[in-house]
Amino acid sequence: MSVSQWTHLGDLEDLSEHGREVVKLGRRQIAIFETEEGLFACNNRCPHEGYPLVEGTFPKPCLLVCNWHGWSFDLKSGKTLSGADLLRLYPIERRDDGIWIDIQDPPKAQQIERALETIAQAAQHLDYDHIARGLARLVKAGGSLEDAISRTINWASGYFDYGAGHGLAATADWMSLTDELRAGEIAGEMAEESGLIIPTLESIFHLAWDARMGKDIPYATKSAPWNEGEFLNAVDLMDEPKAVELLNGALKNGIGWPGLLPVLSKAALAHYAGFGHVLIYLNKCNELYLRLGKPVLSALALSLTRYMINARRDDLIPEFRSYAPALAAFGDKNGGGVAKPDEFVGLSVDKSLALAVASAGDNQQLYNSLLKAAALMMLHFDEALVGVVDQPVSKNISWLDFTHAITFANAVRVTAERMPELWPAGLLQMAAFIGRNARGVKNKLDFDQWRVSNKKAFRQEVHAHLFDHGEVDPIYSCHMLKLFVACEREAEASDDDELGDLLFAAYNRFRHGTLKRRHVRRSANQAMDLVGRED
Ligand code: FES
Repeated sequence: MSVSQWTHLGDLEDLSEHGREVVKLGRRQIAIFETEEGLFACNNRCPHEGYPLVEGTFPKPCLLVCNWHGWSFDLKSGKTLSGADLLRLYPIERRDDGIWIDIQDPPKAQQIERALETIAQAAQHLDYDHIARGLARLVKAGGSLEDAISRTINWASGYFDYGAGHGLAATADWMSLTDELRAGEIAGEMAEESGLIIPTLESIFHLAWDARMGKDIPYATKSAPWNEGEFLNAVDLMDEPKAVELLNGALKNGIGWPGLLPVLSKAALAHYAGFGHVLIYLNKCNELYLRLGKPVLSALALSLTRYMINARRDDLIPEFRSYAPALAAFGDKNGGGVAKPDEFVGLSVDKSLALAVASAGDNQQLYNSLLKAAALMMLHFDEALVGVVDQPVSKNISWLDFTHAITFANAVRVTAERMPELWPAGLLQMAAFIGRNARGVKNKLDFDQWRVSNKKAFRQEVHAHLFDHGEVDPIYSCHMLKLFVACEREAEASDDDELGDLLFAAYNRFRHGTLKRRHVRRSANQAMDLVGRED
């Protein structure tokens, strides 16, 4: 409950003379206007960029326009007519002894709700600065950043027409940075008060970005009794209505995330699909669930299921047809030990899969070898290929092809530690990544220059970059973030210092590499070539 806090202002000279005046009450600056429609009081700082509203104009008696960028406010209804954020109004009245104003703040719960609504509205308009202001108001009111993220996930997931995407995955990683900030594990300017809202700001913007083109394709609302085998089968047959009906049945009957995770993990690794994203997204959705809990359960499970069904089946492409036979041949033991990382580098998909099969026996060792190979390949990526403008689509290759080999590896380890029976599929899909990226590798590159001697200082430098990355399209910033989180976690999870050194060096090279955002000439050339060959 808020109690009125009427404050006596007495007679205001400027108000009587000029119809407007600013009064200061503590930290407040309040603009008071006398118009034909009566007395009005509002925050003098425009909610857009803080310029003084007392300088504004009145095209109509209660319509205040801020002269800096034209936002306009109806001082009677409190509505913002043009612009975004709401303007704080104060009850004001003239009594026998002068002017009185009520400066009581609205109850905290109301302030928090209003901030959350602001964020939701700003996200729908993809208005980055507006989201930032909403978050600043949320924090000021004592609200929870997690609530803002949960609400955004629930709204945005309804518009992911291909299902879960990078926004969800990046949100999990950004939230881990929020945890580190709160724990004092991130230093420097990122630890300043404004730094705390950055990971949430980035998350909400990315989720909204992923939802921006969505058509709000509803999920099936019917439900069917949960059956794991039928669910896996429906995903396999790309039958979304059936898979969702079963999922609805599970959710209705209280089968929560812990009950769904094993079957979602099996589905995610049932095929080499979606360039590894199915498992990456599952891993990150699991982190989101552990962090945000039941409020996001249905949104995560539904959007993941939709993505699994939409994900491109890489193992149906001729290049990867050897994946299924390799999986069938992958056994528990071999006589020859595990191949060394550099033996994998540069192999074709078929040869890489065959070498992985021949190395079967010690999953952890094979994993280490494949992950080191993925890091080595990043260190040997022929960056000149990024700039080639005249080549067939099949030869397109970029840094992101290489980063996914490592973020996917992180998802494989985490999943297989929970479900060891999934090691073979995970390891062979890592081998498939090694093979598919072989075309971009140039041997004899000297990567000594990328070695990181001071990991603590490097970490700080990477965080400083992530917290002020300057990228417009969040797809780039999220890959910088996701790769770094994966490298750090894999380095931490292993006793092998060489692995950590390679991962940090690989990230260092990527961090300073050429990330071409748009291939203007290449796109035009490839379009002309394709259309030129159409009958
Ligand atoms: S500061 Fe008022 S409209 Fe921009």
